[in-house]
Amino acid sequence: MTSAEAQSSPELPSPQEPALQLHEAGVRFGDRTLWEQVNLSLAAGEFLAVLGPNGSGKSTFLKTLLGMQRLSAGTAQVLGAPVRRGSSRVGYIPQHHTLDPQTPLRARDLVALGLEGHRYGLPWASRATRTRVQNLLDDVGAGSYADRPVGLLSGGEQQRLRAAQALADDPALLLCDEPLHSLDLHHQQAITELIRRQAVERAAAVVFVTHEINPVIEHVDRVLYFARGQHRLGTVAEVMRSCVLSELYQAPVEVIEHRGRIVVFAEHLEGYHDHDPATEDQL
Ligand SMILES: Nc1ncnc2c1ncn2[C@@H]1O[C@H](COP(=O)(O)OP(=O)(O)O)[C@@H](O)[C@H]1O
Ligand SMILES: [Mg+2]
Repeated sequence: MTSAEAQSSPELPSPQEPALQLHEAGVRFGDRTLWEQVNLSLAAGEFLAVLGPNGSGKSTFLKTLLGMQRLSAGTAQVLGAPVRRGSSRVGYIPQHHTLDPQTPLRARDLVALGLEGHRYGLPWASRATRTRVQNLLDDVGAGSYADRPVGLLSGGEQQRLRAAQALADDPALLLCDEPLHSLDLHHQQAITELIRRQAVERAAAVVFVTHEINPVIEHVDRVLYFARGQHRLGTVAEVMRSCVLSELYQAPVEVIEHRGRIVVFAEHLEGYHDHDPATEDQL
């Protein structure tokens, strides 16, 4: 790479640059507005929790930041440059899905795919690479199944590998889509701790989509809450309030704080899905 290329590289934002900057951003599918007018500037090291019912557009939000889904309105900048696909500085833990049992990879190969060179099929080149992958496997408690075929592992075991893969390249922005799904408490804590360390020690900005805020509540700087085509953005204390969520859902919601945990009560939220005509009629 020439020095002129290095200077103009979108991979090298200045340290003061926000990790994420959205201006009047929105996504529509046909005549349905998933969300709109999102204005957000996320600093390095900041931890954003994204909440909302099924179907409210949380995964789509991450996909717009990955360049997998176009915005219908507004703009998004990631690490100081317009969104593009495949940046090695963005780590992504996709929403849980079960891999094909025939997938011809071992656990350690899946983690290695998170290292840039390996995406292009480079062989197991250096000792440093092998050590890095082994450390990641140990960090997520996957050492004991490192050489097993990924397709034969349990959902939780696969999920831990996805977390290791996303962290492999020391991302400056980490996008996590319900990363604690299908994990037991012990592994939830281990994965949460790894993500927290990436934020605190490596100054990565974290966008953490979750159903449940409590497992990460002590790490959360701000909450982005989607529902009914609208959103609320602010600190936990600002957003997780009865009046704020009742207004967002257009239905009574009670938020109770107890010993640092938050419980959200709402009759209409039982089995609520954001685009289900049956529940929408009730609102
Ligand atoms: N490419 C698409 N075309 C049309 N509708 C879509 C598309 N992608 C997602 N949707 C719809 O948008 C809604 C939100 O999806 P998603 O972002 O996955 O929600 P969440 O992650 O909050 O559960 C869903 O109803 C989904 O069916
Ligand atoms: Mg989702």
